[in-house]
Amino acid sequence: MTKALIVYGTRYGATASTSEEIAKILRQEGLDVRVVNAKQEKVKGIAEYDLVIVGSGIQIHRWTKEPEEFLKKFQKELAKKKVALFVCCGSTQPLDDKTDKAESIKNARKKYLEEKAAKYRLQPVSLGLFGGVYNYNKVPWLFGKFMEAIKPQLEEAGVPQTEPGLYDTRDLNAIHNWAKELAQTVQESFS
Ligand SMILES: Cc1cc2nc3c(=O)[nH]c(=O)nc-3n(C[C@H](O)[C@H](O)[C@H](O)COP(=O)(O)O)c2cc1C
Repeated sequence: MTKALIVYGTRYGATASTSEEIAKILRQEGLDVRVVNAKQEKVKGIAEYDLVIVGSGIQIHRWTKEPEEFLKKFQKELAKKKVALFVCCGSTQPLDDKTDKAESIKNARKKYLEEKAAKYRLQPVSLGLFGGVYNYNKVPWLFGKFMEAIKPQLEEAGVPQTEPGLYDTRDLNAIHNWAKELAQTVQESFS
């Protein structure tokens, strides 16, 4: 059975639930999957895994610390494995009128995924750029003003509230399709 590891870092929860959605699809496709929140658990070794997926939420253009540390620590071993990277971010749905959506997605892909892969000399089999959440139940004081400023924009853009105070810009189908395609690519390469 193909074994997969998903290691993620999250601040507001989107990357956690996205990781679980990816795991669900990979399991449906017949993979054995372990999901690790890198802040809560340190992965000791990756020798047993055929596929390693590393994901992070983005805040002010930055990944969370722990998945980045994971990439650094296992850089050499990862270079010899099937690797996929993904991020949950706001760039898939710009909230102001001035930003072009396609341009925003292209820039985010380059900055958050392609440059990260290059930094650790990885050649991922897949890169996933997904939406994220704006979580009004979890606003750090530092970002209070920013969060209030974008609330009318979220409303105007019709971003759904999946729970009170949780605006979610993710497209679940896109996440599922990405995971399914990834599972198939990896399994084909081992068959
Ligand atoms: C303070 C703040 C800063 C953010 N900065 C960015 C950013 O620079 N680029 C981006 O694409 N999304 C940005 N976002 C959107 C986040 O990526 C989104 O909230 C995502 O869900 C974060 O992942 P997480 O929920 O797993 O922490 C920002 C969100 C917040 C609240």
